Amino acid sequence: MDKVLLSIHIVIFGALLLFSRGKSFVQSSSSSHTHPNHTVTSCNASERSALLGFKAGLSDPAYLLSSWKGDECCKWKGVHCSTRNSHVVKLDLPGHGCDPNSDAWTQVLGGNISSSLLGLRHLQYLDLSCNGFYGVQVPEFLGSLHKLRYVDLSSLSFIGRIPPQLGNLSNLQYLNLNSEYFNAIYSMDITWLSQLTSLVHLDLSGTNLSTIVHWLPVVNMLPSLKVLHLINCNLRTSSASFQLSNLTSLETLDLSANGFHTHIARNWFWDLTSLKYLYVSSNGFYGQFPDEIGNMTSMVKLDLSSNNLVGMIPSNLKNICSLEEFFVHETNINGSITKFFQRLPSCSWNKLTYLSLASSNLTGRLPTKLEPLNNLIYLDISRNKLIGPMPLWIGELTKLTYLDLGYNNLDGFIHEGHLSGLESLEYLWLSDNSLTLTVNSTWVPPSSLTNIELQSCLLGPKFPPWLRWLTSLDNLDISNTSISDTVPDWFWITASTLYTLKMGHNKISGSLPSTIEFMGATAIDLGSNQFNGTIPKLPISLSDLNLSRNKLDGPLPLDFGTPNLMKLVLFDNSISGTIPSSFCKMRSLILLDISGNKLNGPIPDCSANTSTTNMTSMSILNLSLRNNNLSGEFPSFLQHCQELVFLDLPHNHFVGTLPTWIREKLPRLAFLRLRSNMFCGHIPEELMKLVKLQYLDLAYNNITGSIPKSIVNCKGMIETRDNYDDGGDALHHAFGFNDEWEHGPNELVTYTENFTVVTKGQERDYIQERSYTW
Ligand SMILES: *[C@@H]1O[C@H](CO)[C@@H](O)[C@H](O)[C@H]1NC(C)=O
Ligand SMILES: *[C@@H]1O[C@H](CO)[C@@H](O)[C@H](O)[C@H]1NC(C)=O
Ligand SMILES: *[C@@H]1O[C@H](CO)[C@@H](O)[C@H](O)[C@H]1NC(C)=O
Ligand SMILES: *[C@@H]1O[C@H](CO)[C@@H](O)[C@H](O)[C@H]1NC(C)=O
Ligand SMILES: *[C@@H]1O[C@H](CO)[C@@H](O)[C@H](O)[C@H]1NC(C)=O
Ligand SMILES: *[C@@H]1O[C@H](CO)[C@@H](O)[C@H](O)[C@H]1NC(C)=O
Ligand SMILES: *[C@@H]1O[C@H](CO)[C@@H](O)[C@H](O)[C@H]1NC(C)=O
Ligand SMILES: *[C@@H]1O[C@H](CO)[C@@H](O)[C@H](O)[C@H]1NC(C)=O
Ligand SMILES: *[C@@H]1O[C@H](CO)[C@@H](O)[C@H](O)[C@H]1NC(C)=O
Ligand SMILES: *[C@@H]1O[C@H](CO)[C@@H](O)[C@H](O)[C@H]1NC(C)=O
Ligand SMILES: *[C@@H]1O[C@H](CO)[C@@H](O)[C@H](O)[C@H]1NC(C)=O
Ligand SMILES: *[C@@H]1O[C@H](CO)[C@@H](O)[C@H](O)[C@H]1NC(C)=O
Repeated sequence: MDKVLLSIHIVIFGALLLFSRGKSFVQSSSSSHTHPNHTVTSCNASERSALLGFKAGLSDPAYLLSSWKGDECCKWKGVHCSTRNSHVVKLDLPGHGCDPNSDAWTQVLGGNISSSLLGLRHLQYLDLSCNGFYGVQVPEFLGSLHKLRYVDLSSLSFIGRIPPQLGNLSNLQYLNLNSEYFNAIYSMDITWLSQLTSLVHLDLSGTNLSTIVHWLPVVNMLPSLKVLHLINCNLRTSSASFQLSNLTSLETLDLSANGFHTHIARNWFWDLTSLKYLYVSSNGFYGQFPDEIGNMTSMVKLDLSSNNLVGMIPSNLKNICSLEEFFVHETNINGSITKFFQRLPSCSWNKLTYLSLASSNLTGRLPTKLEPLNNLIYLDISRNKLIGPMPLWIGELTKLTYLDLGYNNLDGFIHEGHLSGLESLEYLWLSDNSLTLTVNSTWVPPSSLTNIELQSCLLGPKFPPWLRWLTSLDNLDISNTSISDTVPDWFWITASTLYTLKMGHNKISGSLPSTIEFMGATAIDLGSNQFNGTIPKLPISLSDLNLSRNKLDGPLPLDFGTPNLMKLVLFDNSISGTIPSSFCKMRSLILLDISGNKLNGPIPDCSANTSTTNMTSMSILNLSLRNNNLSGEFPSFLQHCQELVFLDLPHNHFVGTLPTWIREKLPRLAFLRLRSNMFCGHIPEELMKLVKLQYLDLAYNNITGSIPKSIVNCKGMIETRDNYDDGGDALHHAFGFNDEWEHGPNELVTYTENFTVVTKGQERDYIQERSYTW
């Protein structure tokens, strides 16, 4: 679910990014800066030394400035000189730190921005955006480079106060200090801004302006302003009545992600009827969709999403004839989708490219007939309450690249006619509807498809043959689609390009081929199927694997071959043999669940070969080995698992006493379940000093003596006692790895575990339900 919403955000951001980075109006054409050979511009010596001084303060691990040597500084990378007087007028050094899809982020400059730049007295243009100046302040001295007209210092992870000296740059037309993703610069007094009367483009997104109440009068001092971005600035005040007599040129206004919490209709920006691009998402605006929109006849892109707006869009939109992008997701329209389409201005139908209506409580059937939306690229109506079939007009959207109708109550059949015309389609997301795909076995899908999510649609019983024609798939989810078949050999070749493959909850049988090793996947979920045979060697890139609830047998691979494996879920199979010592090398593992198998023998000690495996620590957080035939003492490798929260060993043959090192080595332990083993001896006092312990089950062992009085120290247990005692004895516990356990910012993994707790001495086995989502 999060993933879907995230994708929406990315696409929208992409659109913003494109716009905010369109800086051509000040920038002179940079391709023409190679000078004809006969008018050799010679570099001014004092400016050259200023540049070298600047370079000296930088760190440049990727040698981006390797051309900065010799006398001809006008030919150095990013340096442009005036053809008239050969002064350096432009320093154009954007890094690749904003490039989303590569390790381009290493292609950046870092270090310090030296004040020797002051030697470039004629500088008009400065672009250092998307480099890596971590923790550096916006330099005060920039305020002295009076000729500056264009300054782009965006995405630079600056910290500290924006220097008011920037207010001295009276020629400035373009100022971009966007730090949306770092959010560590601030200004507590923005009167300096009002001096920049030539400003055409201003972006202070991500700057903390929370103390500033009267920001509108300041902005109103900038009569040339065309573009204003104040995304995520902690702004709180917006005014209904403010007369913005000066902002007659404003075309783009982006106030997304502030905290206005006021009525949407009572806002100054509705008076700016010249606006073409208005983004006000995630601001806590409330009320009906305002009629004021009807007067915004220049509107091209309108984003009202993620606010508490209620009711149908207004009926007076008929003059908004330039509308291309309309975002109203995460609102509460709570009305019929047919009416919504009727109210979209018909004069803009052939211009609309983006329509984002997810999670807005839209009801009813999709209209069966619709005026053509010839240019639609993006259509998201997911997570609404739509019923009925998917209409055929969708199949005529030849430019559509993104279609998401997931999480509705659509039903009926989808055949070739719904899909074959979608020749640009990349994303086909129809999950969680009652749709049945009845395409002909010879059907060839649009070859542009890269992301398919059809979870819980009906595709089976045959394995979908059309997948064969997709040669560049990134993500495929055909979980719970009633497939009852073996996997054809060609599929594993098709699947070799996938990042994620989800085929769980089907009746897919047969063994896993050894060619799986050559897939590029990072996540594979084949859980709850009928796969048999042994587990082959896995793709080297794999980080998440779920093969639970299958019929796998034989031993675990001697070496999984996956240095980055983080989640390994193999419960409820018939895997036998011992746990191989290669397990000790799996340093990234945070979740291991091999419960309900036939594993035997002791667990590798891992310290035996310390010299070769460097056994300093393992990341494991959740270990479940329940219901096997494992033996030996309490696993000693756990001494290297400082992060462990959940330890589940019931129904094995473990022997010996409980170790006294538990408290010292497992400080975060919250769930300790040792039921039905052969542990003996006393309960060590140390165990009772585990302050985070919430759940302890030692039943059916050979443990003697009394329960230490110090059990009252287990604060975790006391805090959650209510959960155990108040009748309902199910404790629902969810670990959100991303925020609670700091295992990487991009993780969207949830591990949910339900179990019934044994209460007040009643001998009741706990029932356990597990779901792993990634
Ligand atoms: C100009 O210089 C470039 C590269 O130094 C060279 O390839 C080109 O032939 C020169 N043109 C003339 C007209 O000299
Ligand atoms: C170099 O530029 C500086 C100012 O930037 C100027 O004072 C000096 O005269 C210039 N030198 C030459 C040789 O043009
Ligand atoms: C940047 O400045 C700081 C403090 O003056 C200094 O410690 C650091 O070495 C400088 N970095 C570079 C790359 O020169
Ligand atoms: C630059 O701005 C600062 C602060 O706004 C001011 O104190 C200073 O006098 C200005 N300097 C010049 C040269 O204008
Ligand atoms: C409009 O902008 C000019 C120039 O900055 C300024 O002098 C004037 O006070 C502004 N008008 C209002 C109403 O703010
Ligand atoms: C739309 O504009 C007209 C004329 O400028 C104005 O009279 C009317 O009040 C506006 N309507 C809304 C809803 O703002
Ligand atoms: C959709 O409607 C339900 C019930 O009326 C409400 O609880 C929910 O908050 C609405 N969704 C949104 C996004 O407003
Ligand atoms: C499948 O499609 C082909 C060509 O579109 C057609 O000739 C054939 O009859 C179809 N087969 C079935 C079973 O519908
Ligand atoms: C695995 O399942 C397939 C298909 O159900 C069957 O033909 C095969 O014999 C099974 N293999 C093993 C080793 O059980
Ligand atoms: C073990 O790993 C730690 C931290 O990763 C490192 O500092 C240490 O040098 C390594 N020791 C050996 C023997 O490889
Ligand atoms: C239980 O432990 C005692 C010693 O603590 C030992 O004598 C006895 O054999 C154990 N019983 C079983 C069934 O392991
Ligand atoms: C866990 O329990 C809650 C409440 O009883 C239930 O809604 C949820 O579906 C259960 N989750 C699983 C994975 O069984």
